[in-house]
Amino acid sequence: MKNGIINFGIICLLLCSIFVKAQKPIYLDVNQPIEKRIENALSLMTLEEKVQMCHAQSKFSSKGVPRLGIPEVWTDDGPHGIREEVFWDKWSGAGWTNDSCTAFPALTCLAASFNPQMALIYGKAIGEEARYRNKTVLLGPGVNIYRTPLNGRNFEYMGEDPYLSSRMVVPYIQGVQQNGVAVCVKHFALNNQEENRMSINVKVSDRALREIYLPAFKAAVEEGKAWSIMGSYNQFRGEHCCHNDLLLNKILKTEWKFDGVVISDWGGVHNTDQSANNGLDLEMGTSTNGLTTNGTSSYSEYYLADPFLKGLKSGKYNEQLLNDKVSRILRLIFRTTMSADRPFGKFVSPEHSEAALKIAEEGIVLLKNEKQFFPIPVGKYQKIAVIGENATRSLVIGGGSSSLKVAYEVSPLQGLIKKYGKDHIIYSQGYISGKSEYGKEFSSDANVDSLINSAVEIARNADVVLFIGGLNKNHFQDAEGSDRKTLDLPFGQNKLISALLNVNKNVAVILCSGNAVSMPWINKIPAIVQNWYLGSEAGNAITNVLSGDINPSGKLPFSFPKKLDDNAALSFGQLSYPGDGTNEEYKEGILVGYRWFDTKKIAPLFAFGHGLSYTSFEYSKPVTNKTKYGKEESVKLIFSIKNIGKVKGAEVAQIYISDNKSTVIRPLKELKAFKKMNIEANQSRQVEISLPVKEWGFFNDKTQNWEVESGKYTILIGSSSADIRQRVSVQVN
Ligand code: GLC
Repeated sequence: MKNGIINFGIICLLLCSIFVKAQKPIYLDVNQPIEKRIENALSLMTLEEKVQMCHAQSKFSSKGVPRLGIPEVWTDDGPHGIREEVFWDKWSGAGWTNDSCTAFPALTCLAASFNPQMALIYGKAIGEEARYRNKTVLLGPGVNIYRTPLNGRNFEYMGEDPYLSSRMVVPYIQGVQQNGVAVCVKHFALNNQEENRMSINVKVSDRALREIYLPAFKAAVEEGKAWSIMGSYNQFRGEHCCHNDLLLNKILKTEWKFDGVVISDWGGVHNTDQSANNGLDLEMGTSTNGLTTNGTSSYSEYYLADPFLKGLKSGKYNEQLLNDKVSRILRLIFRTTMSADRPFGKFVSPEHSEAALKIAEEGIVLLKNEKQFFPIPVGKYQKIAVIGENATRSLVIGGGSSSLKVAYEVSPLQGLIKKYGKDHIIYSQGYISGKSEYGKEFSSDANVDSLINSAVEIARNADVVLFIGGLNKNHFQDAEGSDRKTLDLPFGQNKLISALLNVNKNVAVILCSGNAVSMPWINKIPAIVQNWYLGSEAGNAITNVLSGDINPSGKLPFSFPKKLDDNAALSFGQLSYPGDGTNEEYKEGILVGYRWFDTKKIAPLFAFGHGLSYTSFEYSKPVTNKTKYGKEESVKLIFSIKNIGKVKGAEVAQIYISDNKSTVIRPLKELKAFKKMNIEANQSRQVEISLPVKEWGFFNDKTQNWEVESGKYTILIGSSSADIRQRVSVQVN
């Protein structure tokens, strides 16, 4: 009997031990709550293993914990498509043959669609490509505000208005992250130029910081639930943004409750003490010592590598600082590579081409269209002259980190030939801009006059001339690492356009760019199209719009100034832009973009929110559900839009708010809602928009709170910021 009990006990013990062994460690159990998995993983890691997770091990990756089966973190650019593989320690492409991606339109084009549904489609598609390429983090989107028309990277961002950027970035994030890939919203914050970007110390008022430069990041974190954020290169009030206590600890992690990872821009870290204490979690770098030389170290010289480990061991840094960083990195891993139901992604799929096409078509902006120059139906003309290097030049390569190796790129010329037939299209390059090389300005000994003469010859007898030019991804154009030096079109394009006009009046200008340009020929050109950088489907999108298959519906996400010093930042001299080499003061404060033009009564060349259609729209008188509102209430605004033309089209109704009498300086109007409506010819559609009064406030830098003042407000309904169609006033108590 006794033996029987003992044997039974032994069997039970054996079974228990097998059971316990069979049970997975919590951190590996995808069904366990993430916070429990983090706690468990942390308890199993050594100090060295934790520190190794906080800095790069290669150009685009950081260590996991191989011993515990915790994977590495693999990041990759960029906002418009998944960058090709580069070498472990070099920026140059590694020559893989399976990494040619779909290029989606630049984010200025997405913003110009004024359609959050497009942002969701965009995020989902690019997220699938990042997932398929096994990336943990997509280094995008960028949401820095368009402060000047010279910033080399404006093409990567979503324009001058914080509300538009906020509404468009949230669905993009949701689309990407539903693929089990983290976004890395960049560049946080105040990285509004490339000139001196690694060190310029930005000084800006609390009001401008809160009302203009932070809202898109705040929406990305609080609504988009972004899993990582990229610190920017510049300084803000004397601290580099990659380790800035106010931005990262106080605002991002405490006020906004950000639970993700702060990743430095590459080589943006300059100090171990600040990196340890000021909210940086993962230091990425440009070379093995994080900054400049390709030393022999295996990244152990990074500020968050050996120097940090040494400080932890000496007690200089509390291990809690390290645990917070590693917890965030583990949370990112458990949300992505080690998540339960991570999708499988897709790469260069027909759906992605369809998405790229649709976003491009919705973002193209018809700026001017006299005498119904466009659309040009197939068959209308026998001889169409296509002039300009951007009709054939690849615009997805170059420009810095957003450069892409693509599976295909349909050029405007290819699209036009496909649509109108090669017998009706005659092409001439017209101007030359050389190779897009990072950091190298173009210089050419090409015979510019002969290029112009050949272009003039084919324009002379053409029925119509389509000039396809603009900027490109060259140094000092739309490119990372440099700002433009002028508002003018480069490479002698203005001279070429004048030469074309001398022989043919029927000339349209189609601008591929991510920035505003001056247009000295504007009064002689009957039709102008803002054509952005449209990616792989560029030629199909622009041709569908020019031929009338698609009715353009894009609106400008930033103003086009008539001349440089009409721009706010540029009208306050060097300290305001580009700064004195050390400091820069945003002297225009909250008056950025149309806020400036309205206040100073300066007429822009083309206004924020401007964009024509092949039809026209009429707005009915709006009504509100009440006339008096409390500050916690929302105004219900109702009006209708009628399509009074012959073709269906989409109109973006923009709703601006104006505080008629405020105790502080406020812009004349601020965008607080917009809605894109598809309306059949001769049809009318009702628009209902809810406007929360609490979003009408200003940031009071004395109380450090948002305030809505009582009094009369005017609600302006516009087809652009300069084309207000209806108004209605309400009282706020
Ligand atoms: C670059 C850019 C950043 C990019 C990163 C990696 O310097 O500023 O946007 O994601 O480095 O290429």
